[in-house]
Amino acid sequence: MKNIVILISGRGSNMEAIVRARIDGARIAAVIANRPDAAGLQFAAHAGIATRVVDHKAFASREAFDAALADVIDGFAPDLVVLAGFMRVLTDGFVQRYTGRLLNIHPSLLPSFPGLHTHQRALEAGVRVHGTTVHFVTPALDCGPIVIQAAVPVRPGDDEDRLAARVLVQEHRIYPQAVRWFVEGRLSLTPAGTVQVADVADGPDGWTVPPVEG
Ligand code: GRF
Repeated sequence: MKNIVILISGRGSNMEAIVRARIDGARIAAVIANRPDAAGLQFAAHAGIATRVVDHKAFASREAFDAALADVIDGFAPDLVVLAGFMRVLTDGFVQRYTGRLLNIHPSLLPSFPGLHTHQRALEAGVRVHGTTVHFVTPALDCGPIVIQAAVPVRPGDDEDRLAARVLVQEHRIYPQAVRWFVEGRLSLTPAGTVQVADVADGPDGWTVPPVEG
């Protein structure tokens, strides 16, 4: 059984998708939020998952917050730490502590649109294809070796909310998939910093970019 710790800041719909996927061999050991009012905590508690809050406002520095957060995380002996809408910039020390076992989801096709407001920026840039990326976390923000991406079309008349909703459907597909691969021991970060996904039935074209969907 692999222990998964999921970090959230708000709604927690990606966390929920991972929990609902009931991944064989995975135990969601804890859901931890940096905000006491993170809505996703309620779903996790109802699902019988341990919940914790490490409120970043209680700490004077990023380093102090990250150290306290790591202590709580490590209490659950995680094999994998999953950032699911966790809206804090993490220190290099924190990221290095979890190298190869720290995943994030970002709402764009990286390396396009790192940072915030990705859907609005995609609309402003006039891209025809947008999407989402699961990646291993490295010290640079919203950067890191890409595990899986899903693309969606940008349709005429889209606004930020419509585009975000279309992308979110794909987020809820690819994040559980990435976690499943990890739990099955098929997904790893190599010492060279590349992603290895072993024995995926669909083959490279099938899994790196699932078909564009409406
Ligand atoms: C998602 O769009 C995710 O890609 C981004 O923040 C959002 C979190 O949504 N990092 P939720 O809390 O998982 O519902």
